[in-house]
Amino acid sequence: MILTRLSVAVQRFFNGKKLSSASNPQLPKCITPAVHKLLDELEKPIRFSSLQLKIATQNFSSFLGAAGAGAYGAVYKGELPGGFMVAVKVLNGSSDKKIEDQFLAEVSTIGRTHHINLVLLYGFCFEKDLRALVYEFLEKSSLDRLLFNGGGDNSTIEWESLHNIAVGTARGIAYLHEECQQRIIHYDIKPENILLNSELCPKVSDFGLAKLCNREKTHMTLTEGGRGTPGYAAPEMWMPFPVSHKCDVYSFGMLLFEILGRRRNMDENLPESQEWFPKWVWKKFEKGEFSDLMVVCRIEDKDRDKAERMAMVALWSVQYLPELRPWMSHVVKMLEGGLNIPRPRNPFQHLTSGSPRSDLVARFIEEACSLKREIARTTSESFATCPTPTMQKYEIEIATL
Ligand SMILES: Nc1ncnc2c1ncn2[C@@H]1O[C@H](COP(=O)(O)OP(=O)(O)OP(=O)(O)O)[C@@H](O)[C@H]1O
Ligand SMILES: [Mg+2]
Repeated sequence: MILTRLSVAVQRFFNGKKLSSASNPQLPKCITPAVHKLLDELEKPIRFSSLQLKIATQNFSSFLGAAGAGAYGAVYKGELPGGFMVAVKVLNGSSDKKIEDQFLAEVSTIGRTHHINLVLLYGFCFEKDLRALVYEFLEKSSLDRLLFNGGGDNSTIEWESLHNIAVGTARGIAYLHEECQQRIIHYDIKPENILLNSELCPKVSDFGLAKLCNREKTHMTLTEGGRGTPGYAAPEMWMPFPVSHKCDVYSFGMLLFEILGRRRNMDENLPESQEWFPKWVWKKFEKGEFSDLMVVCRIEDKDRDKAERMAMVALWSVQYLPELRPWMSHVVKMLEGGLNIPRPRNPFQHLTSGSPRSDLVARFIEEACSLKREIARTTSESFATCPTPTMQKYEIEIATL
């Protein structure tokens, strides 16, 4: 209660007195850790002027991206008075007055989406010359830099930390899909969009930037071409088929393989059999040669159980048919060890069989149904179990397959 009142007071202070004043671009000098904590509690994001953001980013001089701007725009490091660090994402496109309402509605949804594993949006700017989002700054940058640190020694990362990053990321995505008021499909889960704080706690970034998908509408058909990033985008994203939240599960699966191997899934410098890591993992799993994987991935015996779980969850998550992929809340439980994992099917069969796609789909659907029955028999809680009313609704849809 006190916290809420204080939050409102801080918010009024920022909005009314300082931040919206174009004549006084100086930001408040009083942002202390306590205020930072309060900002975490705020319901509404803060509106910044473009002048304020120019000052904070020293005229957008400190670019955070590795090479070229991201799909939605470039990110710059900024500092508010008081040493409060932010990341400012300057969005591509114009600030047409006509889209202001829609922009504010989307920003307000993102700003009200709070979870320990999601990057916090502090505010935004919507002016003629600048459309930007202001995020909390994450000290350890993104997961790609930790996993593939250009010749550095990534073997020093504790396996436990990697496992925690996988579980935390899964929790963040599960929250977006299953717990917030409006389902948010990310569409671009990849290591570059998983940021890490000083304790290596993962935070999913850039959620809500793609079109928001209303929870009532389970599927979206993409009309404007493919989305996502090659290598992580689910097959249905680049084909004219319905796309649902299961496309994020697929991308998460691809990310899991990369966490497991501490390598990019595609590495053309390796022998052909190891070039594409997910298929190599499947081959090892199929032949019962998991020990090879442990050696190649430098995983110690004490971590074998978690590593095996991670591999199986990854194999389930990248199944060709979205219906076969688990819900993210189930992914969390499987990674944590709280749910039995049935033996995965070959996710890459469609790449080798040569059958026409329609035959394959029919066969896969048949398999999906029998698999669901099998899961229901062998696990205490199956993928098909629905803990929330929304999930029950979705389940009805699956059952009509
Ligand atoms: N809040 C932040 N704190 C710290 N570093 C960040 C933050 N946001 C982004 N970055 C860094 O900036 C890089 C570029 O981010 P950006 O979102 O522009 O590109 P991307 O993630 O590679 O592509 P996409 O636009 O598809 O998300 C990130 O990979 C990360 O290293
Ligand atoms: Mg990004």
